[in-house]
Amino acid sequence: MTTPEPSAGDVADFDLADWLARAESLPPVVQAGAAVLRSRALPVPAELFGSELLQRLADTMIEAMRQAPGVGLAAPQLGVPLRVFVAEDPEERLAQLSERARASRERNALPLVVLLNPSVSPLTDETATFFEGCLSVRGYGALVPRYRKVEAHGWDLQGRPLRMRVQGWPARIFQHEFDHLNGTLYVDRMLSRSFATEAELPRLGAIPVDQLMRELGPR
Ligand code: NI
Repeated sequence: MTTPEPSAGDVADFDLADWLARAESLPPVVQAGAAVLRSRALPVPAELFGSELLQRLADTMIEAMRQAPGVGLAAPQLGVPLRVFVAEDPEERLAQLSERARASRERNALPLVVLLNPSVSPLTDETATFFEGCLSVRGYGALVPRYRKVEAHGWDLQGRPLRMRVQGWPARIFQHEFDHLNGTLYVDRMLSRSFATEAELPRLGAIPVDQLMRELGPR
């Protein structure tokens, strides 16, 4: 048995310049259990818009996302408690999926997006339930219901306002990444009985979700 020691982890003291100076060229993705993944991230201050610091943070996040590889990454996942996420689901990756898997998930290509101080809100009550995973909960996945269509508001790196409406898989990505900025992980929203190891996911993913939910029983 171990006794976890409380850590300070005060997000209010965060200094981006200092973090960039100390960070490895490609910092590791922080794993579940870290305080930064359970804290509410801070808004990017207006004076950072258009700055080289912010550009370097975004570049690091994009590189870490692509390297993983993942379809989205939020700043807290690199240990940076700021309200920034990046997302990208390129056509080349989608081409590897079956037409059926792609259509049922509405896995539409999503060009690279960098969103600062975002808000993500549903445009419908309709939800879709599919397996998703998280680079910060490595090795697992679970069924998570998400709104099918959302609107995102935010700012780009230069501080220009951005508004996007997305549907299907991109909507799932946005909700997942936005949750990270509020200290929420998919495990807080998953159908817990569907929680599975990576090795089991291809098999489970091939079973129609309705059937699988019946087989797994009530939440
Ligand atoms: Ni995640």
